[in-house]
Amino acid sequence: MKYQTTTEHQTFALGKKLAQTLRGGELILLQGELGSGKTVLAKGIGAGLGIRKTITSPTFFLFNIYPVKKHPTIKRLVHADCYRLKSGRDIVEAGLGDYLGQADTVVVVEWGEKLPRKLQQGVRVHFRVLKNQRSIVVS
Ligand SMILES: Nc1ncnc2c1ncn2[C@@H]1O[C@H](COP(=O)(O)OP(=O)(O)O)[C@@H](O)[C@H]1O
Ligand SMILES: [Mg+2]
Repeated sequence: MKYQTTTEHQTFALGKKLAQTLRGGELILLQGELGSGKTVLAKGIGAGLGIRKTITSPTFFLFNIYPVKKHPTIKRLVHADCYRLKSGRDIVEAGLGDYLGQADTVVVVEWGEKLPRKLQQGVRVHFRVLKNQRSIVVS
């Protein structure tokens, strides 16, 4: 599916919509240059899952874990960012690996293309910055 958004709000709303399709166990790989909207989409996914706490970029920790309270099948959202990593192997060993494929967990990874290739099985979201908009392709 291909989308074009012209505002941060629209990208956030797309994340909320995407969240409605999730059941747990999904890995969502976000790819695209800095400032292309990956964190905004992750925030929208969090809101769509009913998380009240603001989703912020994982900086000090490699990934953040947000409890999901009122969802029938999803118990937590894990939000990771591989931007600063040379190898995505590090974050997997640092504990992210424990959450991949867990039926009650949704994992969202910015710079997901840095994860070890064999783990990159999930929903891919490609972001591109166009003149006045973002092109967002979900596949
Ligand atoms: N259509 C859009 N979708 C998302 N963000 C947008 C859009 N247009 C402008 N922006 C701005 O681009 C920036 C995207 O930031 P962010 O989501 O943190 O990027 P990334 O995580 O990909 O580095 C924000 O400052 C946001 O306000
Ligand atoms: Mg980001």
